[in-house]
Amino acid sequence: MEIINRRQRIFSISRKFRRDDKKVGFVPTMGALHAGHLKLVEECRQRTDITIVSIFVNPTQFNDKADLEKYPRDLTQDAAMLAELGVDYIYAPDADEIYPEGFSTYVDVEGLTSRMEGAFRPGHFRGVATVVTILFNTIRPDIAFFGQKDAQQVAVIERLTRDLGFEMEIAVLPTVREPSGLAMSSRNERLSDADRKKAVVLFDALCAAERAFKGGEPNAASLAEIVKDTIKKEPAATLDYVSIVDRKTLQPIEKIGDSEVLIAAAIEIGGVRLIDNLILDNRQ
Ligand code: PAF
Repeated sequence: MEIINRRQRIFSISRKFRRDDKKVGFVPTMGALHAGHLKLVEECRQRTDITIVSIFVNPTQFNDKADLEKYPRDLTQDAAMLAELGVDYIYAPDADEIYPEGFSTYVDVEGLTSRMEGAFRPGHFRGVATVVTILFNTIRPDIAFFGQKDAQQVAVIERLTRDLGFEMEIAVLPTVREPSGLAMSSRNERLSDADRKKAVVLFDALCAAERAFKGGEPNAASLAEIVKDTIKKEPAATLDYVSIVDRKTLQPIEKIGDSEVLIAAAIEIGGVRLIDNLILDNRQ
C-alpha cells in the first residue's frame, strides 16, 4: 500500500490502471475510520481491481470552525486498518493540493441541499459536492462507494454524477450499525457512554415508524408523529427534524405510494448531532 499526497501522482496512477483495463474503485473518506468505512472498502476490494481510499478532512464542508478543529485525525491508525484490508493506495492530500491559492469554483446541487441537513448546516453540501467533484475528476474511478447513512449526501452525489456526466457507478451500501442499532459514525466517539446508550432512541424512533408503515400506515404526517413521540421519551435528546421524502429527489411526500421513500431524522444529544434514516418501500 502506498500513501500519496500529490494530485498529479494519484491521477497518473489511476489513469495507468484504467489504460491497462483494470477496474478502479474509490472510497472517499475524511478518515477516523470505523466499521462502516471498512465495509465500503471490503466491497470495493471485491468489485474492483484497484482500491483507492482518500483521506481528506474537507474544510469547505464544515460550517462550524470548531467542528472542523475537533474532527478526529489519525492517519497512522487509519492507514494500518486500510493496509490490513489490502487497500492499494491512500490519497491523503494537504488542503492546498485540493484548494490551490485563489480557488474560486464551487459545485452547487440545486433543489436537494436546502432542506434537512442543509437547513442546519448551510454550505455543507456545496463543500461536499465540490470536493467530491474534484476527487472524481482526479481519480476517475469506475465505481465510487458511499454509505446509505448519509442519505442526503448520496442523493446529492448521485445527482452531480449524472448532471456533470461522470461515466461511473455510485454504489450505495446499507448503514452499518453498532449492536444496539446506533448507526456507525465518527461522531459516536464524542458521546459519553451514557449518551451513547441513549442515542439509540434515534434508530428506535425510525423503526417504530417503519413498523407502523408496514402495518398499513401510509401517511407521512402520522409516521413523522411516531418519530417525534418516540424521541420525546428520551429527555437527553432533542429532535432537529424528521423528514419523509422521495429517496432521489428529496421532495417531501404526503402519502407513501410506489416510490422509494426515505424517513430521515437528526437529533442532538450531549452536544453531538446524529443523523439516521430508513428506506420505506411498498414494493419490498
Ligand atoms: O462522507 C464523508 O466522509 C465526506 O462527506 C466525503 C464524501 C468524504 C466528502 O468529504
